[in-house]
Amino acid sequence: MADRLRWGILGTARHAQSSMIGPINAGSHGVVHAIASRSLDKAQNVARRLGIPKAYGSYEALLSDPEIDAVYNPLPNHLHVPVSLQAMEAGKHVLCEKPIAMSAAEASTLIDAQRRTERQVMECFMVRFHPQWLTVVDLVQSGRIGVVQAIHGYFAYFNDDPDNIRNKADIGGGGLYDIGVYPVTTSRLVMAAEPSRVSATLVRDPTFGTDRMAAAILDFDGVPATFSCSTRSAPAQRMQLFGTRGSITVEIPFNAPTDRPTRLVVDDARDLFGSGQEVIEIPTVNQYTLMADAFAAAIQQGLPVPLPITDGVANMAVIDALFRAADSGRWELVRMP
Ligand SMILES: NC(=O)c1ccc[n+]([C@@H]2O[C@H](COP(=O)([O-])OP(=O)(O)OC[C@H]3O[C@@H](n4cnc5c(N)ncnc54)[C@H](OP(=O)(O)O)[C@@H]3O)[C@@H](O)[C@H]2O)c1
Repeated sequence: MADRLRWGILGTARHAQSSMIGPINAGSHGVVHAIASRSLDKAQNVARRLGIPKAYGSYEALLSDPEIDAVYNPLPNHLHVPVSLQAMEAGKHVLCEKPIAMSAAEASTLIDAQRRTERQVMECFMVRFHPQWLTVVDLVQSGRIGVVQAIHGYFAYFNDDPDNIRNKADIGGGGLYDIGVYPVTTSRLVMAAEPSRVSATLVRDPTFGTDRMAAAILDFDGVPATFSCSTRSAPAQRMQLFGTRGSITVEIPFNAPTDRPTRLVVDDARDLFGSGQEVIEIPTVNQYTLMADAFAAAIQQGLPVPLPITDGVANMAVIDALFRAADSGRWELVRMP
């Protein structure tokens, strides 16, 4: 393997162009070496603009390039597992966008693939690498807010573009898959546990058939983690943890800025007016660089990737149960495949 892990990018996704290719190159363990698109022209244009040495007119062509060590898969959600499997069979390690799969059962096929191909695969949960969430975990574990009693979350944006992948039900659109996965993964992280059962209600878009508003309760052995997510609401995001001795507010929990510090507000609850608030500023980082570098370093050192694929399966098991609960109108057990 070269000094730096050589990345191939599958597709010319907006997110890859705006938020991943630069941050991968800004890290110390990886470099983007090639990009592929279903259209060679598109791949060449992006390669030229972003200084990527190689461009391919199909994903298969990139996967057969022996110079590529690992691929980043930001394809529409229904292609996450099939193309990641193809990449692993072709000998590449894979960093794949969230949601890792369309279901926990589909995600679990990646566990077998890891064994069979001896290639690793990790879900792109950049928030799990941001120091603000590591700080929240430390604060909770140190008992700073006592025992956690409830978690509240909200994540929303407004997108009614019929051409956007998020508004196409047949390729994995909808809010739960796109953004509901974040309050789920961060609640599981903070609770260091899995919810046993969930309840949910979904509002589906009458034209697109995708869920445009979801409200959910995850039951962590009597501690409810509730959240709502919307694809038709003004952009907003917040996570709050309430404990027996105080609370923590994560001001920008998911799309943490790269041009200013992020803030946690820890309140010791001495009154309801915030007299006991401490603001903890987390220095500016790029969470995509941290994630890509942690992945690349693990691969280079022959170590397991930092976020095991079993975690992705567990996250999808919660999403599966939320869809089931919205259909049945009842609590549904979270079942691992
Ligand atoms: N972690 C994060 O912060 C974050 C943020 C945004 C998005 N994402 C994830 O990144 C992925 C891409 O999101 P995006 O908004 O960047 O999407 P996008 O701009 O629509 O890109 C998707 C790409 O997939 C390729 N593609 C292959 N088959 C396709 C099909 N049937 N329909 C549409 N595109 C197809 C296209 O590339 P070619 O035409 O070049 O082949 C397209 O550029 C999603 O999984 C999303 O969940 C993650």
